[in-house]
Amino acid sequence: MMTEKVLVIDDVITDAMATPSPAKSMGDPGITPLSPTHVLNDSEENESTRHPYVVVVAIDFGTTSSGYAYAFKKEPECIHTMRRWEGGDPGVSNQKTPTTILLTPDKKFHSFGYAARDFYHDLDPTESKQWLYLEKFKMKLHTTANLSIDTDLHAANGKRVKALDIFAYALAFFKEQALKELSDQAGGDFENSDVRWVITVPAIWKMPAKQFMREAAYKAGLVSRDNPDQLIIALEPEAASIYCRKLRLHQMVDLSNKTAQNGYSPTENVGSGMTQGDRYVVVDCGGGTVDLTVHQIRLPEGHLKELYKASGGPHGSIGIDYEFEKLLCKIFGQDFIDQFKIKRPAAWVDLMIAFESRKRAAAPDRSNPLNINLPFSFIDYYKKFRGHSVEHALRKSNVDFVKWSSQGMLRMSPDAMNALFKPTIDHIIQHLTELFDRPEVTDIKFLFLVGGFAESPLLQQAVQNMLQGRSRIIIPHDVGLTILKGAVLFGLDPSIIKVRRSPLTYGVGVLNRFIEGKHPPEKMLVKDGTRWCTDVFDTFISADQSVALGETVKRSYTPAKPSQQVIVIHVYCSEKESAIFISDPGVRKCGTLKLDVSGTESPAARREIQTLMQFGDTEIRAMAIDVATSRSVKASIDFLSH
Ligand SMILES: Nc1ncnc2c1ncn2[C@@H]1O[C@H](COP(=O)(O)OP(=O)(O)OP(=O)(O)O)[C@@H](O)[C@H]1O
Ligand SMILES: [Mg+2]
Repeated sequence: MMTEKVLVIDDVITDAMATPSPAKSMGDPGITPLSPTHVLNDSEENESTRHPYVVVVAIDFGTTSSGYAYAFKKEPECIHTMRRWEGGDPGVSNQKTPTTILLTPDKKFHSFGYAARDFYHDLDPTESKQWLYLEKFKMKLHTTANLSIDTDLHAANGKRVKALDIFAYALAFFKEQALKELSDQAGGDFENSDVRWVITVPAIWKMPAKQFMREAAYKAGLVSRDNPDQLIIALEPEAASIYCRKLRLHQMVDLSNKTAQNGYSPTENVGSGMTQGDRYVVVDCGGGTVDLTVHQIRLPEGHLKELYKASGGPHGSIGIDYEFEKLLCKIFGQDFIDQFKIKRPAAWVDLMIAFESRKRAAAPDRSNPLNINLPFSFIDYYKKFRGHSVEHALRKSNVDFVKWSSQGMLRMSPDAMNALFKPTIDHIIQHLTELFDRPEVTDIKFLFLVGGFAESPLLQQAVQNMLQGRSRIIIPHDVGLTILKGAVLFGLDPSIIKVRRSPLTYGVGVLNRFIEGKHPPEKMLVKDGTRWCTDVFDTFISADQSVALGETVKRSYTPAKPSQQVIVIHVYCSEKESAIFISDPGVRKCGTLKLDVSGTESPAARREIQTLMQFGDTEIRAMAIDVATSRSVKASIDFLSH
């Protein structure tokens, strides 16, 4: 990486600048790095300074279902998944609990999971309008462009609640459940300080969403802000990858050869069939997101190296639920569906549960129709709303692959169901095709299909058709728990993933000495007779660049005035692999690097604050020291304030 020597400039900001310079937009002029990019390799992750713990508890906070699992440090091979939950849906396995939460009318936590759903369901309609019921809300963190601590969510009754409160309630619930289970096991109170917590998030999540999850964990009292290392944010497909390597043949289905054993003995790991350098793809197909990761295994330790930055998108299985909703709108009218959801929220939940079990029955070789029970209150409310029957609406609509059955059910032909799957599956296949077309992604030995949606025969078939035998498709038996179990293994040894790829290009804006012919004239800034080029993007790391765990990017900053208490530097990012100016298309401000230099008065006239940033972890970390006094300076990167 090349960066020209840059100097500290005080008060150079003039109003004449056409585009915002980083210094101007901060209102805190004069902070530019002293030193050129320097990458230090300190790949021995400082495990000992991390939190000492007895047990790792991982929480998989899913879009549609959530759960936890744990393992004791002294017995790492033994992963316990959470106790069985009360309730459960007919025909639907209940390894995780639904990510549903219920608040009382005065916005206090009431219940989570099946308990929330069942209680809500049993409320009478006038009461249920007062209670706040939330589901499928995790996606909001991915889809909200300006995610902040104040971002709101909408409950089923249309009322707003702070997303942070909801995530914190859910995490507090898991904390309580897990500690209770651990205490029961230990036969006495189990201390939270003995737990290393792991929360999984999709790999495609941006920094603000990851930070949001961390903030929610602080709020939930999972860990304290003073002890951030007690919580590890794990990436879902990475966790899956860690677990999949350990699979034995009887723990999985090999789609490319369902019966034969492909030369592997039944006790052999898939991992032991892997040799140095083997490459594989993990496709985590959840409710909300589909995440693709490419890993290479490095023996003898079995460390993993990421070969291509995480990719994917919001193409999880709830896309099919939305298609179903669209279909209902087509038949019964959008105005009716919108009203019904608000006025009979519990019946709407019922209808979607009925759809869920039918959705899971969809398969390519299916020839008989799928029946969906319409709740009585749907039929009744429709009659009141329109003045004619549901049956009439179906006959009148031009959706001919959905019929009314005499038993009061919606009868969907297999084609109708396939059509609901198609947009979502097409997106996934498109992502996979693009991934396999990349030069970095060749010779993929295995493709692991994990996450609840991986159980869909329609999806399995589509992936098989797309791959055309290019790699073996492996589906673990407990697809729904793969991530959870992998997350526990990751918590036990976070250094297992040695090399990652940066999902984005990160940097800050700096001033460089102006060079005629190289720098555009509109970027020129003159100060005391010296000409500077403003807005220069000083790259910390480029998109898809590989970074080893513990590798740091070093920059030095200096306060503009000796009395200054904080140094605030805007961080910019881009999807593109390089950026020249912070004003380039696609570059946006994404966070701030804050150095708290208060109370570190230094005798030196010009203080140098050396800042080290790590990009090889699942989160970006910053550390800083005051060079003159060798004292550490509080450094943080914030992606949630705008
Ligand atoms: N046979 C099936 N066909 C279609 N979808 C299925 C099938 N089985 C499970 N699913 C879907 O899988 C999803 C649950 O998977 P999983 O628990 O992995 O998701 P999640 O962890 O809640 O979501 P995310 O990881 O995206 O946050 C649900 O949306 C469910 O409808
Ligand atoms: Mg998931």
